[in-house]
Amino acid sequence: MSLRKNKKLLILPGDGIGPEVMAEARRVIEWMAKHRSLTFDVAEGLVGGASLDAHGAPLTDATLSEAMAADAVLLGAVGGPQWDDLAFEKKPERGLLRLRKEMDLFANLRPAVVFDALADASTLKPDVVKGLDIMIVRELTGGVYFGEPRGIEELPDGTRRGVNTQVYTSPEIQRVARVAFELAGKRRRLVCSAEKSNVMESGALWREEVQKVHDEEFPDVELSHMYADNCAMQLVRNPKQFDVIVTDNLFGDILSDEAAMLTGSLGMLPSASLGMADSQGRRPALYEPVHGAAPDIAGKDMANPSAALLSLAMMLRYSFDLGGEADLIETAVKSVLNGGLRTADIMEPGKARVSTTVMGEAIIGELDKLAG
Ligand code: IPM
Ligand code: MG
Repeated sequence: MSLRKNKKLLILPGDGIGPEVMAEARRVIEWMAKHRSLTFDVAEGLVGGASLDAHGAPLTDATLSEAMAADAVLLGAVGGPQWDDLAFEKKPERGLLRLRKEMDLFANLRPAVVFDALADASTLKPDVVKGLDIMIVRELTGGVYFGEPRGIEELPDGTRRGVNTQVYTSPEIQRVARVAFELAGKRRRLVCSAEKSNVMESGALWREEVQKVHDEEFPDVELSHMYADNCAMQLVRNPKQFDVIVTDNLFGDILSDEAAMLTGSLGMLPSASLGMADSQGRRPALYEPVHGAAPDIAGKDMANPSAALLSLAMMLRYSFDLGGEADLIETAVKSVLNGGLRTADIMEPGKARVSTTVMGEAIIGELDKLAG
């Protein structure tokens, strides 16, 4: 019998469709408590526009402390048109960026997997994407997102100048490269590092440091380098050439959206953002669906809850070493797709279009079958 305390989980539903998809995640957490005796102490908090409206800031210090104390954070989405014109420090996105930075979540894992049942949902030809399984590892706490100096200034002649700084240090590059090599070691052993070393010093350093980590620590993984623009092109030309792609914060933002769309819908894709493990092996972690707030369909019971549930599965796998339970969720999602149910984002002729809640219920139903 284990005397360990319950794991602490903080749910931050956020804005737009975040609360709707997180409600389905909560149902699966309750299912796990009932059927797998996995009990989490679940707390809920505000982030993004929701926090801004309630407290005047997109993330309060109190919520940040709760996030730091939690064993894992599950986040819905942030942002919406009603907050678009705010100053940068107030924007909902700032709440998410502050969480990433303060929790030092430097490694962002974004798998792009094409489920067999959805191979026709991609805008690319089915044979180009069928069976696709790539992992983008995006550096998440550095680069142009956080580099100083930054700002908009007025010059003496009255013109304005916007400045951001792309900056990386060797330890920042090395630690995210290690994550990529370690993941590749459990996959197809291929890492492609993407940068713009032909035009940027930070890119040249990126290439050198990734190569060094490879040569010194992971010689059994195959490493290639690609300019980020070529990588973007190769992703639509022949995506199956990739296994793990490691890249910086901005290129990772762009390439991961592109990779996501290869799968047919952002509504299917989870992500994990991980920090460095401490001496007890405890690792700060935040899990979120890639789809964002989708304000156009918010509140309509239309959103696809799959990405949120698959993010929960990633949490079970990476934060709690519960691969079996993670597999259960992934299998349940696949079975529901195979059974022909589709939310609007992945709807195809001949399939049954269902709401967020019906999709969630169907996934729970599959879990019941799998456990029974
Ligand atoms: C993402 C999003 C965020 C980013 C926004 C919401 C700040 O696009 O997670 O990819 O740019 O990192
Ligand atoms: Mg993005």
